[in-house]
Amino acid sequence: MSRKKRPEELRSHRWLGVADMRSFGHRSRLRQIGYDSDDWQGKPVIGIINTWSEINPCHAHLRARAENVKRGVLQAGGFPIELPAISLSETFVKPTTMLYRNLLAMETEELLRSHPLDGAVLMGGCDKTTPGLIMGAISMGLPAIYIPAGPMLRGNWNGQYLGSGSDVWKYWTEKRAGNINDQEWDEIEGGIARSFGTCMVMGTAATMMAITEALGMALPGSSSIPAADSNHPRMCGQAGRRIVDMVWEDLPPEKILTPAAFDNAIKVHMAMGGSTNAIIHVVAMARRAGINVDMETFDRLSREVPVLANVRPSGKHLMEDFFYAGGLRAMMQNLREKLDLSCMTVTGKTI
Ligand code: FES
Repeated sequence: MSRKKRPEELRSHRWLGVADMRSFGHRSRLRQIGYDSDDWQGKPVIGIINTWSEINPCHAHLRARAENVKRGVLQAGGFPIELPAISLSETFVKPTTMLYRNLLAMETEELLRSHPLDGAVLMGGCDKTTPGLIMGAISMGLPAIYIPAGPMLRGNWNGQYLGSGSDVWKYWTEKRAGNINDQEWDEIEGGIARSFGTCMVMGTAATMMAITEALGMALPGSSSIPAADSNHPRMCGQAGRRIVDMVWEDLPPEKILTPAAFDNAIKVHMAMGGSTNAIIHVVAMARRAGINVDMETFDRLSREVPVLANVRPSGKHLMEDFFYAGGLRAMMQNLREKLDLSCMTVTGKTI
């Protein structure tokens, strides 16, 4: 780690490090929570923005995963603080989560701005949560690392793998045609979503998690890890360690999110056969970063990029299979042999 900052230059020092009455209040109230000066003095304060909620099954594990992040932050000499943010549960929120993406972006930005934080860990994955978190982090400009919630395990019924979304339509049609009965329909209801994590087809969630990794905002390889795989909590610990160094190295999103990074993300989107909803979110994220991305950009890049992934609904398999086949890291390697795909990531390296 190359240190560019001294402890007195940390943003949190303005709250916690100065000898005035206001800082006395901040410190005394941290002590009220049970922390002592050894917990924070001279350390980067890391805000863990967690979109966990009891009614978001895609994020049901993020409460526990925040503890893995905290472990990593502490190991690297930081001070972790978890802050809850609105959880946009695609399966429950009516009329549509799209009304709240920008609310999450504002909440993320203002949580980061208003508290004594030096860096951010962004935890989400269910559809609009990824762009919401990233947009807010871009506007605030603190070093930030995204933790993808990861896809749930494959669905199972009657010896067959079930995919979120696509198989609901398929078997609903079968039921209406009289080809399956009420008991079978009930069994499918119990088997189609059998672990925490996001939808495990290449829908908006898997697409946006992969795009965010391709932008450089998540650890390489992180977006393909199934939520229930033990690689996932290990990745959370790595992200916790890494964000502390990102603060010392002064690596905010603006150093990562270049026009080339967005080109990479769109190429990866095309190679995955990703969701068309991504167009709306990528344009919004790019504009937050002051980069012009429009439909013409998607059209131009789509003409250069072959579809490589074979994941439903455009392909045959599910995200768990994609992970076992090497995941996004392997796919990007394959793509690099055909196209220029180098970009800076949260690791501080160009890959
Ligand atoms: Fe959360 Fe599909 S419902 S990712």
